[in-house]
Amino acid sequence: MKFPEWMANVQRRVEQALEQRLPAAQLAPQRLHQAMRYAALGGGKRVRPLLAFAAGEMTGAPADRLDVIACALESIHVYSLVHDDMPCMDDDTLRRGKPTVHVQYDQATALLVGDALQTLAFEQLSLPGLFDDSHKQVRAIAMLAKASGSRGMAGGQAIDLDSVGKSITREELEFMHIHKTGALIRAAVMLGALAGNHESASDSATLERLDHFGKCIGLLFQVIDDILDEVADTATLGKTAGKDAAQDKPTYVSIIGLTPARTLARELAEEAHDTLAPLGANAQRLKEITDYIVSRPF
Ligand code: IPE
Ligand code: IPE
Ligand code: MG
Ligand code: MG
Ligand code: MG
Repeated sequence: MKFPEWMANVQRRVEQALEQRLPAAQLAPQRLHQAMRYAALGGGKRVRPLLAFAAGEMTGAPADRLDVIACALESIHVYSLVHDDMPCMDDDTLRRGKPTVHVQYDQATALLVGDALQTLAFEQLSLPGLFDDSHKQVRAIAMLAKASGSRGMAGGQAIDLDSVGKSITREELEFMHIHKTGALIRAAVMLGALAGNHESASDSATLERLDHFGKCIGLLFQVIDDILDEVADTATLGKTAGKDAAQDKPTYVSIIGLTPARTLARELAEEAHDTLAPLGANAQRLKEITDYIVSRPF
């Protein structure tokens, strides 16, 4: 199957799985459930689910287990976007081509949408029997918790907000990006892989390799996001272009410049490819996702 077709299939699966797993819009409290569905359904590239599926297919993970893992990852991601857009953070009015949740609903609802999506993620991952081995399931839950918390995404967001208007070093910028965006992307690769079989010593070497790959593309993803914020337009992005410069956010573009940022993106993609090379044809989807991340227009 060609990559665009594989990607569209996974995206369709994820939409369907989210549709089923999000509380129904008619269920009380209706306004909160409508807003959760508004935030999570019908948009987004679903990059974290794509990574989980690609890694899971490598280790023979069952697709229905990957559906649940994909929902959990996307729920955390959407929660982070809803809060990221609030006036107390980036104060954005457009997301995925629609008004942001606090604009369409209100700030308190946006706060609660994030809270509820976060706990929904862990509820999904705790489903009895999701994994054959309950120790493995607890490991997966802990992995998502760490990636989302103060030593992961939330911590990176704290550094981001604290850095507005300040000049930070390239090392500090990398630390921020690896946490605010990289941690969840890295966890997506690892959770997908963990959902399959990886008992032998050679499999643990594969897992280490996948972890390094996840780290490379996590950073790569935010470098590209920084570049697109500078060079793409609002209609293409589905979110307001030029926000980082307007808000004086430190980004790879502001700290090292546009052309060096592009060079860095190419280097990170190369490192990601080199890391996957020993895994051969098995890693084909992950290689294709890497190329997609680099060349995506939004
Ligand atoms: C945007 O994430 C926020 C970042 C972490 C850079 P995505 O670019 O994955 O957003 P969607 O899910 O496709 O809308
Ligand atoms: C957001 O980074 C990262 C998270 C939501 C965790 P940005 O603030 O750069 O994301 P966009 O550009 O608003 O999508
Ligand atoms: Mg932000
Ligand atoms: Mg933002
Ligand atoms: Mg951005």
